[in-house]
Amino acid sequence: MVRSGSKVPAHFEGLYNIYTAERLIFTRLASKFFSATARHNPHPPASLARDRPVRSRCPKCAIYAYVCSMMTIDILSVLPELMESPFSHSILKRARDKGLLEIRVHPLRQWAVNEYGQVDDYQYGGGAGMVMMPEPLAAAIESLSKDRSYDEIIYLTPDGRRLEQRIANGLSLKGNLLLICGHYKGIDQRIRDRYVTMELSIGDYVLSGGELAAAVLVDAIGRLIPGVLNDETSALFDSFQDNLLAPPVYTRPAEWRGMTVPGILLSGDPRKIEDWRHEQSLQRTRERRPDLLEGE
Ligand code: ADE
Repeated sequence: MVRSGSKVPAHFEGLYNIYTAERLIFTRLASKFFSATARHNPHPPASLARDRPVRSRCPKCAIYAYVCSMMTIDILSVLPELMESPFSHSILKRARDKGLLEIRVHPLRQWAVNEYGQVDDYQYGGGAGMVMMPEPLAAAIESLSKDRSYDEIIYLTPDGRRLEQRIANGLSLKGNLLLICGHYKGIDQRIRDRYVTMELSIGDYVLSGGELAAAVLVDAIGRLIPGVLNDETSALFDSFQDNLLAPPVYTRPAEWRGMTVPGILLSGDPRKIEDWRHEQSLQRTRERRPDLLEGE
């Protein structure tokens, strides 16, 4: 991210013009700086992790850019076991192995109000379903906040704002996030009022708890952290970046059971291929998600 108010230098301008969304500029700039850092130091030291984002000076000009060194995500859950697998494979595993993402899952019951591990209670006013008590959550949030200050404390809930790519883009620029997974009827409203800074839903349906929603959120954010994807440009062409769905993709063989790959993809002409992909993206978006094109 180029410091606000500063002019984008000429050697950044091409990128700036091509990728007008803030996130995309950032990704390209960050990858440029970060790859230099990463080459020297594949496992950033703890100080880098703590001081994220690191202010880094472009060697070619005097402009400072903010480079993500590491993101930490703390998760509060009554079912921590549920969260082991989603973060232990593929891209998120790579992000953790590279030291770019630290995920800590905290069993909420360690802050339970009694020796039975109680963290929920009946709701005032009657009605079915338990509510997660304020005290264990407050104790957990306050205890974790001693270690690090959170950019956002996010409660996963079906009545939250719907998660979109734009939100994931924004969150991937943050340093420290705390996610709260609800259960039963949800968490006591006073915790939402006092501590929570963002409420997110992953869709208009109700899950049995916030854990799977938190896993979805972490995945969506984690893959965007600069340095996580090998080919950083691949995130730029994901569905929903630029409000377009991704075009169709093909791999070998060129002919499979009588079905052929569109000739243009075999042409070797990058310009034509790019135009074709853009046209396909537009067509797909018009057919499947015209709402994404509204207001363009
Ligand atoms: N918890 C239960 N359902 C949820 C949803 N759809 N999104 C986020 N958190 C949830």
